[in-house]
Amino acid sequence: MSHRVLTGITTTGTLHLGNYVGAIRPAVAASRAPGVESFFFMADFHALIKCDEPDRLARSSRAIAATWVAAGLDTSRVTLYRQSDIPEIPELSWLLTCVTAKGQMNRAHAYKAAVDAATAAGEEPDANVTMGLFSYPVLMAADILMFNAHKVPVGKDQVQHIEMTRDIAQRFNHLFGQGREFFVLPEAVVDAEMELLPGLDGRKMSKSYDNVIPLFEGGAKALKEAVARIVTDSKLPGEPKDPEGQTLVTLYDAFATPEQRAAFRTALREGLGWGEAKQQLVALIEGQIGPMRAVYDELMAHPEKLEAILQAGAARARAIAVPFLKTLREAVGLRPYTQTAATAVAKAEKVALPVFKQYREADGKFYFKLLSADGALLLQSAAFEQGRDAGQWVARLKREGLVADAPVTREAADADIAAALAAFQDD
Ligand code: TRP
Repeated sequence: MSHRVLTGITTTGTLHLGNYVGAIRPAVAASRAPGVESFFFMADFHALIKCDEPDRLARSSRAIAATWVAAGLDTSRVTLYRQSDIPEIPELSWLLTCVTAKGQMNRAHAYKAAVDAATAAGEEPDANVTMGLFSYPVLMAADILMFNAHKVPVGKDQVQHIEMTRDIAQRFNHLFGQGREFFVLPEAVVDAEMELLPGLDGRKMSKSYDNVIPLFEGGAKALKEAVARIVTDSKLPGEPKDPEGQTLVTLYDAFATPEQRAAFRTALREGLGWGEAKQQLVALIEGQIGPMRAVYDELMAHPEKLEAILQAGAARARAIAVPFLKTLREAVGLRPYTQTAATAVAKAEKVALPVFKQYREADGKFYFKLLSADGALLLQSAAFEQGRDAGQWVARLKREGLVADAPVTREAADADIAAALAAFQDD
């Protein structure tokens, strides 16, 4: 079975080298693996929560989409789309909102941080909180559950949101599934590298520290200028240098082969000057990023090409989202009036299947029996002291068929019993 990987990037800025090394590059590489179905999207609905500059949002979305494609994403295999092109996502978000506990959202880190900041500033706790910010995790759950993603690559700060997604999914499955698991419970995948790439000053590369190396913006010139600002020690050319722990070396490592890494370290130990080392770093990065930048610039100059790619991605995404949402709407009771038979049909189908009945007798003990579709007794269990044990045997028989040590007596032909038990494995 194929396995689905999904991740989104909020469209509020342009991407830097840390985003490329930590998120884009590994995602593109992983999307090439056999048996993987990838969904990557521009989280532009999420961007609205923190950005009220329409032009900036629009430009960011375009730049991030172009970056995915320029970084080598194979859009014939990967579904690349804008969140806002999939109206089923906000619709699912509402269905999920209705089963999400407010108390759980109160505990979301992002919301709590906003409350703490307001409180510290002597304001009302919710002074700066919109309903968008408060409901952020529910929208994110909808992003993930809409496509039943198994794995969600994210930064550490997002792990809580994936946990919330699992809770919400479980709640919905429980309330409306009637035995069906509509939603897969997703897992967060946190790439250690994502946390590691340092910025110019050695702290984590981040816009908020003003220490980023731009990925494509500003061309090779901006790359060179940023690298020139990397903080090093004050050793002069010719002096031996200790490469370990140097930001410059960590950045070099992120683009180098093991052989290149070793050679770079040797050269520094033998006195390579920092200026020369920086030139080597620029050459190394530019060798990989340069050709991508050409694709990026082309897509930015021809938005119609990019738009066509995104439209195709949206069509693919909606081919999944539209029928799935239809099922979910029916499950919660949003049905055309002509479909009054739906529940009855489902019930009739159920009657046509064999059933396990669990019950308690006057002796206080627990039992179960297996009845055929037309109500004939097939299996009768022994007595159990605990109801739980009876339940576990029922589950095991459903899963594995009639195992030899099952505490039951056969009340019908073996073939009939086997056929009835097989019915549980089909669904
Ligand atoms: N919240 C994520 C971030 O800021 C972006 C995002 C939105 C996302 N929806 C998602 C990531 C779904 C993974 C899956 O990084």
